[in-house]
Parts: sequence; structure tokens; C-alpha cells
Amino acid sequence: MVTGAEGRQAGRVAIVTGAAGDLGRALARRLEREGASVALSDVDAAGCEATAQLLGDAVLAVPADLSTEAGADALFAEVADRFGRLDVLVNNAALFATVRPTPFQEVAPGELDRVLSTNARLVLLPCQRAVGPMARQGGGRIVNVVSGSILAGAAGLLPYVASKGAVFAMTRVLATECGPLGITVNSVAPGLLATAAALGNTPPAAFEQQRARRPVARDGTPEDVEEAVAFLAAPGSSFVTGQMLVVNGGAQYW
Ligand SMILES: NC(=O)c1ccc[n+]([C@@H]2O[C@H](COP(=O)([O-])OP(=O)(O)OC[C@H]3O[C@@H](n4cnc5c(N)ncnc54)[C@H](O)[C@@H]3O)[C@@H](O)[C@H]2O)c1
Repeated sequence: MVTGAEGRQAGRVAIVTGAAGDLGRALARRLEREGASVALSDVDAAGCEATAQLLGDAVLAVPADLSTEAGADALFAEVADRFGRLDVLVNNAALFATVRPTPFQEVAPGELDRVLSTNARLVLLPCQRAVGPMARQGGGRIVNVVSGSILAGAAGLLPYVASKGAVFAMTRVLATECGPLGITVNSVAPGLLATAAALGNTPPAAFEQQRARRPVARDGTPEDVEEAVAFLAAPGSSFVTGQMLVVNGGAQYW
């Protein structure tokens, strides 16, 4: 990988949401190593600042609840003020770590509404604010983090899986509407990853089952996913849009 001023993101500006979590942190670091100035955001203010401490000077931390219009407005206003442009948006934030497995018969309608609506808003609201600056520059890259669970039909996670299925479908609409503006919109679908969030809400037996199902028989890592996101965020991927790139060791083929 070519890094820094010679990297393929040199001179570009990227936003990574959900940057307090393990995956968001890895994605932000990767884009920064490739030369981008990176804005981090997360509703977890302390975690967002902790990620910023790991990165260099060309980083901006904007703690915000991005499921609200006020939070999303604050992020994009600060990015415009500090950097004056926007090239890459990675919508990685989601209700995930706090989602507890529940059989579908016991899912309360309000919980379905909460998870479905929040995870869809965490994509829609940033995308609505990103297209203006990207279009004015002649284009950009949007990458939405969905989940391999929409292929596997993960038991006990109906609201979460439905929300990621919604984002998968939204990605296609966004790609169709944004293509004429030079903006590509794709999704990345990780299989179960050994992040702190997943280790906290997934029993060890599920990790064992996943390893047994995969042709690449090991745990997935944030580094596996960053490679896919880095490709879709790069200037050279301009003819790839509306796609879902599955990063799951082959647990399911798509
Ligand atoms: N870890 C896995 O096994 C796995 C597998 C497939 C997909 N994913 C997806 O990858 C992404 C990151 O996963 P992770 O393992 O790092 O989990 P994580 O829970 O640590 O990261 C999600 C981040 O989103 C933030 N967030 C939640 N609501 C927000 C809001 N309203 N505004 C701003 N930020 C908000 C959280 O604070 C958290 O830091 C998520 O979208 C998750 O659904 C994870």
C-alpha cells in the first residue's frame, strides 16, 4: 500500500461514522494512512476522541448523534469549515453492540421501529448532506457497512438484520440517484468479526460455528474489511456502484 502524500487518498477528505468502535477505528486509520484528512464521528464522545488520539494531525473528531438532523448537520458543517471539501463518506455507525439476541416471537414492535429506523437514518441523513459537496467537486464515494447476516438470516437478530437489509436496498436507490452526479454508492457486508462489540454480544460457540462454515476457516477482522472499504473509497473504483462486497471468508457466496 502506498501511504501518506503519495497515497491514493492524498488531498482528499473522508468521513467515517461509528469511529469509536473497532471497525470504524480501523477504517479511519486506513483512509488516513492512504493520505486522506479524516473526520470521525460517533455518539460515543469519549470513544470518538480516543480514536482521534490514535490518528495524526489531519483528523477532526465530531461527536454527534447522527440519527438526528441536528447531529448530522453539525458533522457536515464542521467538515465544511475545517476542510472545505468531501470525497469519501463511510457510513459505519449502527445500533449493533447493544442489540441483544431475541427470538422473533418476543420482538416488541417498538424495538423493531427503533433499530430499523435508527440504522436507516444513520445512512440516509449523512448521505443527504454528503451529496451537495461531493457533486460540486464532480463526484465522491459512499460506502455503507451492512452485514453478512442478511445472507445468513441470523437467528435472534430480526430487527438488526432487517435494518441492514434496508441499508442494502437503500444503497441501490442511492447509487441510481447519485450516479449522474459522479458519486458511487456501494455496501460492504462483513461476516462475524472479532470486534469488541461482537465479542460482547455473540456467544463463543457462534464464532466456532462461523469458522467451521467458512472455506477461509478463521475469524474475520477489521483489517479484512478495511481492504474492501479502501477499494470502494478509492478514486479508481469509479465504475463500481450499487454493489455489495461480502467479506465473510466465504461463509455464504453472493
Ligand atoms: N463486528 C461484527 O461482527 C460485524 C459484522 C457485520 C457488520 N458489522 C457492522 O459493522 C459496523 C461496526 O461494527 P463494530 O463491531 O465496530 O460495532 P460497534 O457497535 O463497536 O460500532 C458501531 C458504532 O456506531 C456508533 N453509533 C451507534 N449509534 C449511533 C448514532 N446514533 N450516532 C452516531 N454513532 C452511533 C456506536 O457508538 C459504535 O461506536 C456496524 O455497522 C455493524 O453493524 C459488524
